Amino acid sequence: MSDPFPRRGGHLHAEGVPIARIVEQAGTPVFIYSATALCEAYDALTTALARVRHTVCYSIKSNMNLAVVRTLVARGAGIDATSGGELFRALRAGADPSKIVYSGVGKTDPEINRALDAGIKLFNIESRAELRRIDACAEAKGCVAPIGFRVNPDVDPRTHPYISTGLRTSKFGIPIAEAVEAYAEAKALDHVCVVGVDCHIGSQILSIEPLADALARVRSLVEELRKAGHRIEIIDVGGGIGVRYQKEEPPSPALYAETVIGIVGDLDCEIVVEPGRSITANAGILITRVLYQKSNEAKHFVIVDAAMNDLIRPSLYQAYQRIEPVGPPRAPEQTVDIVGPVCESGDFLARERLLPRAEPGDLFAVRSAGAYGFAMSSNYNGRPRAAEVLVRGERFAVVRKRETLEDLVRGESVPEELTG
Ligand code: LLP
Repeated sequence: MSDPFPRRGGHLHAEGVPIARIVEQAGTPVFIYSATALCEAYDALTTALARVRHTVCYSIKSNMNLAVVRTLVARGAGIDATSGGELFRALRAGADPSKIVYSGVGKTDPEINRALDAGIKLFNIESRAELRRIDACAEAKGCVAPIGFRVNPDVDPRTHPYISTGLRTSKFGIPIAEAVEAYAEAKALDHVCVVGVDCHIGSQILSIEPLADALARVRSLVEELRKAGHRIEIIDVGGGIGVRYQKEEPPSPALYAETVIGIVGDLDCEIVVEPGRSITANAGILITRVLYQKSNEAKHFVIVDAAMNDLIRPSLYQAYQRIEPVGPPRAPEQTVDIVGPVCESGDFLARERLLPRAEPGDLFAVRSAGAYGFAMSSNYNGRPRAAEVLVRGERFAVVRKRETLEDLVRGESVPEELTG
């Protein structure tokens, strides 16, 4: 499918369904995901890697909706989880535990225990202290944890600083120079079994060179570890493949796979990849309704019903996400700030953007919202979180109800004796 959200007869659709029809049922703001686009992105990567033994472990952090995860799991995907909550969601969506990898710098004992109980494929360990915790948890259960270290290769992925993870200054992984020593320590423990090496250098990576640099360092490490007697069977190359938001030219699945296979393909290891954004970003959009417009000397504001609590990427990373009207574009175009109702000047979806004229009641679509959209949403300013809809062909379903006001106070209590 070229575009899962095509314009037909002037009106934007999600696959075969007019978006206006979805909004009638689900309201706004609403995230809409294309099942076909999810499957196509997954298929493109797994096909490109078909020459080598591999598992595509979808990085659930980018979009953890159960129906989205289920769509990918049903297609054969494994899962990259980063917390006990993500592991719970993966299992709830029917993921095969033997295809789940688990990274994260702060794994707690309960999280480790749940992963051990589930029987996951691989713990990607981020410190030597964590190694000892995992060994202790596994000992208490009388089992052995399959592990690898996440190594930090000190490579600059040339992306936004908040999503660069493979630099020396980053909190992630262990320095690659200390890896041999860390693996030796692991080998001496009875309740962990060394099976892999992991490396993830960042997200929204648009050039292949940093990935290639990091992989070359991982390759040398694997060779060194094997010489030291470790059985390295899995190389987890992380996620991070960039996507097109505006005019970016991210590496294609073919180029990415060629690079990975070219550098580590002959080591007789299973290759694990952890893509998030490249599976989900362009399979999703956020639909919002225009509430008001106003101008001052400097600006023209279009105030919509979605805000930074629904989609924080523009505010947090100054990210550009394409915006277009759902109905036929009105003339003339005007330069506007698209802002939400939240009480912060940082609450915007777009700034100084040339867009077709808007009128109150119009619907706008924010593109590329399938990754790190709903997943990063919050209830800030007392805003119930948006609904989520999944579309396949001519059919659609609400896969997460809009939160209610009651949802906003769920779990809270007002103890009389403390509140006066
Ligand atoms: N594996 C690990 C260990 C990760 O930390 C991440 C992302 C991924 C895989 C998936 O990366 P992806 O393929 O999606 O680039 N909220 C930010 C992105 C944060 C990425 C965090 N880690 C954003 O909206 O741009």
